Amino acid sequence: MGVSGEDAATAAPAAGDVAGGFSSTAPDYDATLARNAAGARRLVAAVPHGRYGVLLDVGCGTGFATLAALERFAPHRVIGVDPAEGMLDVFRRKLDAHGGVRAELHVAGVQAMPVGEGVADLVVSAMAFHWFPDKPAALREMARRLRPGGVLALLASGAGSDRELERLMRGMDPPVPAPWVDVFGALGWDEARLEDGLEEAGLVPEDVWTERRRRRTDPDAYLERLRVVASHLSAGLTEEEVLAHGERLRDALHAAAGPRGIAYTFEKVFAIARRPG
Ligand SMILES: C[S@@+](CC[C@H](N)C(=O)[O-])C[C@H]1O[C@@H](n2cnc3c(N)ncnc32)[C@H](O)[C@@H]1O
Repeated sequence: MGVSGEDAATAAPAAGDVAGGFSSTAPDYDATLARNAAGARRLVAAVPHGRYGVLLDVGCGTGFATLAALERFAPHRVIGVDPAEGMLDVFRRKLDAHGGVRAELHVAGVQAMPVGEGVADLVVSAMAFHWFPDKPAALREMARRLRPGGVLALLASGAGSDRELERLMRGMDPPVPAPWVDVFGALGWDEARLEDGLEEAGLVPEDVWTERRRRRTDPDAYLERLRVVASHLSAGLTEEEVLAHGERLRDALHAAAGPRGIAYTFEKVFAIARRPG
């Protein structure tokens, strides 16, 4: 039930599970992940001034980054790509309010985007990269869609996110289901790894930085965030198993909580990179 993903194949969830998980929780996404909307706005605010007529949003979900980019850059064409149809349904309804823009939403993963080479002036990807099963390949695919001189703006969960949860789950006996803890072996990249990955994809990193926050929250609110973003990690379990293990985890989180709830760390890693040309 971890919160992020890397290219360790053993821990990477199956693509169908990810799409099904996010589709099933899509109706609750915007209300539960308001912080992702704020993060997407900070990402878009960091994009260098310029003219960005064509926007590609990879792992677009319900469209937080696209909506921020529409506000700042008024692109005439937006392309959203995400394997979770349910997330795109929510996004599609929001786009109804933006009649002037040509919008295309594709049910597809980052490695199978039906988008031509060099099409995008700006590629954004917010809080999805950590779930991509092959990150170096994903960066190459995103770089390929940029026109020469175009910009990639990336935001992902960092390697240090939710490690308190990992420690708590690893200490539980009987153990929680393996995918809930194994995913931490596949967590996000730090700044140095991301900078290298961008260069390996042929991009020039212009700015790479991390926001690291320690927060306290109510254990039930914490569990609700995990349910909404990581339900695909329970894809191989029966409903009874999910309920039983979830109840034990809930008890452990409540036992660990102080008067202000449980403490956890969350990292958001940002990058701005440009395709040479
Ligand atoms: C936490 S949501 C982020 C959504 C949105 N970008 C935001 O900022 O709120 C992660 C999204 O990544 C998508 N995703 C997961 N694996 C993907 C992949 N291989 N290719 C493209 N998108 C993927 C999920 O379906 C989900 O919509």
